[in-house]
Amino acid sequence: MTMSYTARLLVVDDEEFGGAAADAVLDRLPERSPRLGIATGDTPMPLYVELARRVRAGEIDVSSGFLIALDEYIGLDCQDPRSYAAYVRTRVGAPLGIPAHNILVPDGLAADPDVEAAAFERRIDDLGGVDVQIAGIGSNGHLAFNEPGSPLESTTRAVALSEQTRADNARFFAGCSDVPHRAITQGLGTICRARSVVLLARGATKAAALAAALTGPVGTEVPASVLQRHPAVTVIADRSAAADLSIRHH
Ligand code: GLP
Repeated sequence: MTMSYTARLLVVDDEEFGGAAADAVLDRLPERSPRLGIATGDTPMPLYVELARRVRAGEIDVSSGFLIALDEYIGLDCQDPRSYAAYVRTRVGAPLGIPAHNILVPDGLAADPDVEAAAFERRIDDLGGVDVQIAGIGSNGHLAFNEPGSPLESTTRAVALSEQTRADNARFFAGCSDVPHRAITQGLGTICRARSVVLLARGATKAAALAAALTGPVGTEVPASVLQRHPAVTVIADRSAAADLSIRHH
């Protein structure tokens, strides 16, 4: 198997993960009013911790920046600690010194999620687009909440979550039955309009999905495979997540 395109792949030890991810993000992020696309979940936390450390140490200043979320659960209030709005505000915005009014997350309580999704897509464009999009990958190959079957050109929209995704994310809720059934997510086409993408993967549960996304055919069955079409992707994986990648790397 060979990678069919020119993404940069870094396979790193656990303790290097946050630093390598921070370097990759900052390498592509403009100093003035950076627009950073935020993924949620466990995987990017070492990156956010490292960026916060660099802010506290005075090494970087991103306080003039904007944070743009990938997705949000439909039905959760932005004050709900399980909402992605709360995640972006408290785990990324506050530690990086980015004020709440510079943080964009779809409104999970919008009366009409489709209208909210379309408005969110316009808000991204009005800001001038995303400079660096941080992304994770679902164990089923999803990107944001674009589940298998999502059109590669899709834009921000309301979607139904797969049972696998609801089960994977049950750990953030009281149980699987508590996980919302729907979400608003940036589309695969939206994500691909970011000027750069930093794709992060940690842990053995991501190995098959990462290999399929990076070295398999591009198609709707593996939504993250759309990144093969993006000209500026950096992939950072720990050794477990990279285990199924039979390619040469340093
Ligand atoms: C979630 C999010 C994705 C995230 C992925 C992996 O469902 N919507 O944006 O990348 O699943 O999450 P984790 O890093 O916790 O495994």
